[in-house]
Amino acid sequence: VFINGLDNKTEENIMTAGEYDFLKEIIYREYGIIIKGDKRLTMHTKLSHRLDILGMKSYGEYCDFVRSQPSKEELLNLISHITNNETFFLREKGQLGAFSEILKDIKRKRQRNNQNTLRIVSAGCSTGEELYNLNIILMESGLFAWGWDVSLTGIDVDRNAVRKAEAATYSRNSLRLLNGDEKFIKKYFLAGNEKYKLKQPYKNNVKFVHGNIFGPEGLGGISDVDVIFCRNVLIYMDDGSIDRVAVNLHASLADEGYLFLGASESLIQKTELFVPEYRDGIVVYRKNGKAGF
Ligand SMILES: C[S@@+](CC[C@H](N)C(=O)[O-])C[C@H]1O[C@@H](n2cnc3c(N)ncnc32)[C@H](O)[C@@H]1O
Repeated sequence: VFINGLDNKTEENIMTAGEYDFLKEIIYREYGIIIKGDKRLTMHTKLSHRLDILGMKSYGEYCDFVRSQPSKEELLNLISHITNNETFFLREKGQLGAFSEILKDIKRKRQRNNQNTLRIVSAGCSTGEELYNLNIILMESGLFAWGWDVSLTGIDVDRNAVRKAEAATYSRNSLRLLNGDEKFIKKYFLAGNEKYKLKQPYKNNVKFVHGNIFGPEGLGGISDVDVIFCRNVLIYMDDGSIDRVAVNLHASLADEGYLFLGASESLIQKTELFVPEYRDGIVVYRKNGKAGF
C-alpha cells in the first residue's frame, strides 16, 4: 500500500488492516498501551514523519523494518511518535497541595527511622514539567533543605521527551495554568525569545531516565521511593497492563509510600497492592506492604 501522493486518504488506502494490527499489537505487547478500534488515520498522522525520515513509501516496508531489528531499536522511535506527551505546570493543583502536606508526614516518618533520604519519582514524566513542579514545591517547603539526601527521578519511554525534560526550557503553553503570573515566572524561569528556562537551583537533585514502566525492568531498579506521580499514563492502558504497571510501582515504593494518579485514573477495587486514602477530597494511594510478591 502506497501512501504518498494520495489526495483522498482513507484508512484502507493508507495502511492495510494487517499492517495496522501488527503495529497496534507490538505497541500493546511492549508498552501496555492499547489503541482501540480502527485508528489508522491517527496512526498515520503520528507516523508519517518517521516514514519520511526513513525514506519509506509504505507501511508494509516500515513493518518489515520493525520486524527485522532484533535490537528493537526502531520500536523506540515508533513509541516516541505514538505517545501523547501533553503536560504542563500546575496540573491538578489539588494534588499538588496534597503532595505539599504529605511531605511533612514523610519527614516525620524518615526522622523516626533515623533516615535522611527523600525519593520522588515521576513515572511517565514526559517533558519534565510535573517533576520540576514537585521540586519547586519541595524546595519552597524548606523541609528537606539541610542534611537530607534528596533525589527526584523522571522516567519516560519517549527518548525525545526525556531530552526535552533535561533541557528544562519551556514555551508559554507549558505555563498556561499560571494565568500570566509574572511573579512566579520571574522567580523560577529565565525568559528570552518566547522560551522559559528553569533556573538551575530547581534542576538540582533532578534527573531523567529513559525507561518503560510496563516492562520487566519496571522503574529501572529504583527503590524505597516516598512518592510516585504516575499521572495520565494509565488512561492509555487496559486492566491487564495497569496490573503490570501497578506491580512495578508497588515494587519501587517504600512501605506506605504514596502514589498519585491522574484525575481520570483509578486503582480502587482493581488491586490489593494499594489502599486509597482521601485528603481534602483528593485520592492518594498508599502502598500496601502486606500485598505483593
Ligand atoms: C500524557 S503524558 C503525562 C505527563 C505527566 N505525567 C502529566 O500528567 O502531566 C504521558 C506520558 O507517559 C509516557 N508513557 C506512556 N507509556 C509509558 C510506559 N510504558 N513507560 C514509561 N512512560 C510511558 C508517555 O511517553 C508520555 O510522555
